[in-house]
Amino acid sequence: MAVKGRHFRGLSRKSSNSTLLFAVFIGFSFFVLILLAFGIFSIPFTSRGSRKVHDLSSIAHNAAGRRDDDGGRGDEWAELISWEPRAVVYHNFLSKEECEYLINLGKPHMKKSTVVDSATGKSTDSRVRTSSGTFLARGQDKVVRTIEKRIADFTFIPVEHGEGLQILHYEVGQKYEPHYDYFSDEFNTQNGGQRIATVLMYLSDVEEGGETVFPAAQGNFSAVPWWNELSECGKGGLSVKPKMGDALLFWSMKPDATLDPSSLHGGCAVIKGNKWSSTKWMRVHEYNI
Ligand SMILES: *[C@@H]1O[C@H](CO)[C@@H](O)[C@H](O)[C@H]1NC(C)=O
Repeated sequence: MAVKGRHFRGLSRKSSNSTLLFAVFIGFSFFVLILLAFGIFSIPFTSRGSRKVHDLSSIAHNAAGRRDDDGGRGDEWAELISWEPRAVVYHNFLSKEECEYLINLGKPHMKKSTVVDSATGKSTDSRVRTSSGTFLARGQDKVVRTIEKRIADFTFIPVEHGEGLQILHYEVGQKYEPHYDYFSDEFNTQNGGQRIATVLMYLSDVEEGGETVFPAAQGNFSAVPWWNELSECGKGGLSVKPKMGDALLFWSMKPDATLDPSSLHGGCAVIKGNKWSSTKWMRVHEYNI
C-alpha cells in the first residue's frame, strides 16, 4: 500500500509539473493578448508619418506644436465646453485666409437677417435678429467644399445633410436673441428633417461683446477661465468669445434623438468692433438643395 502510494505520488508530481508548465504557457499567451488588446504595445505596421491632417489624433487638447502641413491654421485643438448642451470649440478650425475668403464671398450680398415664422414657414423681419446675412450654395466652389468636408469630418454628419453656409455680419449693437436652431413646425422639417447640430465659425475677432451665449446651460458657467472678459450679456450663461478661425459645434438633439432645450443660444450685441461669422446647420436626413 505504501509502495503503491509512493509510486502514485511520483507520477502525480511529474504530471503536475507538465500541467504547471502548460498553465504558465497559456497564462503568458493570454497576458500578451491582453497587452495587444489594450494597445500597451503594438505590432508596428503603420507608419506615423502617414497621418492625415484631420485625423482625430491631431486635435487632442494640449497637442501643441505647430505642424507644417496644417494649411496655416495654427494650433488645432478641441475644447469640450459643456455636456448640457453638448458643445465643443475646435480652435483654429479655419485659416485666416479661409475666414477672409468667406467674408469676401458674402460681403456683396448681405441682406438684413430674417427669422423663420413657425406658423407659415416663411422668413420674416424681426427685432430679435438684427444682423445682416447671406446664404452660400452648398459646394459652390473649391474652398467652400474643403470647409464643408472638414465640417463633415469633425461632426460625423455627411456633407449632404448640411444646409448651405450662411455668412453673418453684426455691427455694434446688433445681436440675436436666444433661440433654438431646431424647428417646432412641420413645414421646415419636410426637407431633411429636424436640425440636429450647428457649427458656428467665427470669421473675425470681436473687441468687446458678440459672445455666443447658452443661457440654459447646466453647470457653473461662471467658472470659465474667460469669465472676466465677458460682457453683461455674456455673463447670462455659458459663453464663447468669438475668435477668428474658431468653430463652435453644438447639438440641438440629444443622443436619444429628442430635442435638447439646453441648446438655447443667442448672439450677444457687439459692443466694440465687428463680428463676422458663418453658420452650418445640419439635418437628421439628407437635405436636398
Ligand atoms: C462657481 O464658480 C466660481 C468661480 O470658480 C466660484 O467662485 C463659485 O463659488 C461657483 N459657484 C458654485 C455654486 O459652485
